[in-house]
This record gives sequence, structure tokens and C-alpha cells, in this order.
Amino acid sequence: ANVRINIAIDGPAGAGKSTIARKVAGKLSYVYVDTGAMYRAATWFMLQHGIPSEAEDQVLQAVHRLDIELVPGENGQQVLVGGVDVTGEIRSLAVNAKVSRYAQIEGLRSWLVSLQRQMALRKGVVMDGRDIGTTVLPDAEVKIFMTASIEERALRRYKEMKEQSDITLKQLELDIAERDRLDREREISPLRQAEDSILLDTTHMSIDDVVEFIVSRVQSIQGREGEV
Ligand code: CDP
Ligand code: CDP
Repeated sequence: ANVRINIAIDGPAGAGKSTIARKVAGKLSYVYVDTGAMYRAATWFMLQHGIPSEAEDQVLQAVHRLDIELVPGENGQQVLVGGVDVTGEIRSLAVNAKVSRYAQIEGLRSWLVSLQRQMALRKGVVMDGRDIGTTVLPDAEVKIFMTASIEERALRRYKEMKEQSDITLKQLELDIAERDRLDREREISPLRQAEDSILLDTTHMSIDDVVEFIVSRVQSIQGREGEV
């Protein structure tokens, strides 16, 4: 049997991380972990309980009551908070607007990071986020830093959202740029490329091209480890 490894995929919003990570996990029969969904679920919970990101003490108390489950489903992954399905609600504009604020809070991050590490202990995990290759799984055997131009990333998101919302392409581009800025500039595990990761600019790549690229990296590592 092939050696099971962990795969870390990081990058800014709309780069294609979750789409690609889910497909790679499917091809390899690995488990997909969407860490962004965990930050979104935490944000949803805080908004639901009226706890602002400025009230760090209250956020930290609430974090310990937070029960997040990621359940693999047919259309990707279902997200449950305290048993309630919030899969749709965590993608709302309200959560988009606040998630990067809550994601700056150290105690909230350390709580989620420890859950994420537990999920990867048995290997065979594809995990996507902002700090996976640098902080959560620094020993991941394959690390990808995925990017695309801001115009392309905004356009990808626009195509997804234009049916449910009347947000404009320009507004979406501004929202994404602001979230990227907060994620890059925060003090604790900011978005940055791990030194030992592969930079992949997907602006002109199809989804299948990107999936193939990653799967072949995995296979080449498994080939090498099989020889020893
Ligand atoms: O899907 P999209 O790229 O829009 O965002 P996401 O991956 O769902 O992540 C939402 C937000 O959660 C990010 O903008 C970050 O502020 C935060 N996040 C983080 O801080 N660390 C992670 N490992 C994953 C997400
Ligand atoms: O997770 P992240 O925010 O990095 O991006 P995503 O939600 O996986 O991708 C955003 C959208 O871009 C999805 O609708 C994908 O189908 C699309 N996409 C694309 O058109 N071409 C790619 N190479 C990757 C993603």
C-alpha cells in the first residue's frame, strides 16, 4: 500500500484551495479538512451570541463552549455547530465581513489549531487554510502555496455568488482584498508562503490541471518513500 502523507494548501481567498483540496482528497481517498470553515463557524457562533471581536475575554470563554463538527457529505463538507447545520450560513456576507477579525485572536486560533492537528495525526489528510504549511502542519510532506491574480479570484467568487446575491464584482474584489490584507498583516500566524512550499499561480490553470499537478507530486513522494 502507498505511504499516507499530509498535504497542506495555503493561499489567499478565491485561489481555488478548497475546490482543489476536495478533489485531491477524493482522488487519493484522503480526508479533506477545510480550516476556513472552522474560522467561519466560530465567527457565526460569536455573531449569533452577540459577542464582538473586540471583546476578547468573552470570545475566549465562548470558544471553549464551541462544538464544531466537519462531516464529509456529497457536496463537500457539512459544518455543524452544536449539532446545527450551518454549512450555508457560514458563507454569508455577514460572516465574510467579520471572519478575519475573529481570526486575529490568539486564543481562538490556538484552540482551532489544536483541533486541526488532531485531525491530521493519522495522516492521509488534505488541509487548506492560511497557516497550514507554516504553523498547523509544518511537517506536511507536500506544501502548496496557491495564488491567482486578484481580478481572477474576485471573478471566480462572483460567478459563485451572483445567483444568490446582488453584490458587484468590484465590491467583491474590495472585500477580498481587505480580508487578504488583514490575513497577511496579523501578528499571529499571518498568511505567508512556507519556505519549503511550492508556489502555484493558478490564474491561467484549469481545476483539473491543478489537481493533476498536486496528485503527481504526491505520487512522486510515495515512489521515493517506497524505495527506502
Ligand atoms: O474560502 P475563502 O478563501 O474565502 O476563505 P476561507 O478559507 O473560508 O477562510 C475565511 C477566513 O478565515 C480567512 O480570510 C482567514 O481570516 C481565516 N482563516 C485563518 O485565519 N486561518 C486558516 N487556516 C483558515 C482561515
Ligand atoms: O478555497 P478558495 O477560497 O481558495 O477558493 P475556492 O472556493 O476553491 O474557489 C473559488 C472558485 O474558483 C470556485 O468556484 C472554483 O470552481 C473556481 N476555480 C476555478 O475556476 N479555477 C481554478 N483553477 C480553481 C478554482
